[in-house]
Amino acid sequence: MNDLQPLLDEIAEAVKPEFGKGKVADYIPALARVPADRFGMAVCGIDGREWRTGDALMPFSIQSISKVFTLLTALETIHPDELWQRVGREPSGTPFNSLMQLENEGGIPRNPFINAGALVVTDAIAAHSASPVPHLLNMVRRLSGNPGIVIDEEVARSEAEHGHRNAAIAHFLKAQGNLKSEVTRVLHLYFRQCAIAMSAMDLARAFLPLANEGVIPATGEQRFPPLRVKRVNSILLTCGLYDGVGNFAFRVGIPAKSGVGGGIVGVIPGKFSVCVWSPELDNLGNSHVGTAALELFTRKTGLSIF
Ligand code: DON
Repeated sequence: MNDLQPLLDEIAEAVKPEFGKGKVADYIPALARVPADRFGMAVCGIDGREWRTGDALMPFSIQSISKVFTLLTALETIHPDELWQRVGREPSGTPFNSLMQLENEGGIPRNPFINAGALVVTDAIAAHSASPVPHLLNMVRRLSGNPGIVIDEEVARSEAEHGHRNAAIAHFLKAQGNLKSEVTRVLHLYFRQCAIAMSAMDLARAFLPLANEGVIPATGEQRFPPLRVKRVNSILLTCGLYDGVGNFAFRVGIPAKSGVGGGIVGVIPGKFSVCVWSPELDNLGNSHVGTAALELFTRKTGLSIF
């Protein structure tokens, strides 16, 4: 593969007209303080090469991207069959924080990436660990090679103060018998995992094993079994961008995960991991400029999974 630096710089320039068309998340007040015009992009190759442009080293709130790390943790903590009895693997076609489908479907969330599903995953981990958040931090620090990754306590507090929809979802899960720990504990852990701050480069590095059949290229360590990677990537492809997932697959064509902090991180198996960050979101909660940048990336390189 060629040097990608000119392409990343070209993309950073080409997406400029897209600024101002989305809106920074404000339902978590601490997120609304992030400057809207940030843009960073990082690409890691499984051959060890890395490229970046713009604000790629600036930490941002990973929010729902944390759901990938908790799913990976849960799958190595409890038996997968146990987890898949409590949460499905189908796209929801509904907003990430919707309650309606959860009630219709008896408290079994459609997938681990909508909020209801992620709360169940966090609960599953919590039942087996006295300190799930340090465990999670340890995982992301190791995967990204950055021991400096921390939780943004202000963001965690801000969401705890305003997270009424998540509280409603958690109480409903509890009422349906699909939450084992106390609601307050699960919410506390969930808000903290969402408030982990990482840069686009951290996230691209952390996702690289998902592009490489579970192997960390730099060390050769088989960090995740290939079958688990295949399965997690499939859930990313079908559920990673909520009710925007079909349009994202159409435009970009790679397994990816978004967060309301404005990050989107994805993989092109056998080749790259790629992360883009720009805080203005579309009406479904996915980065507007980030999606445009990833669309340009896969079109201009001719690389997607299709
Ligand atoms: O639970 C929430 O609403 C947020 N902490 C995370 C939501 C999110 O990132 C959805 N992503 N697009």
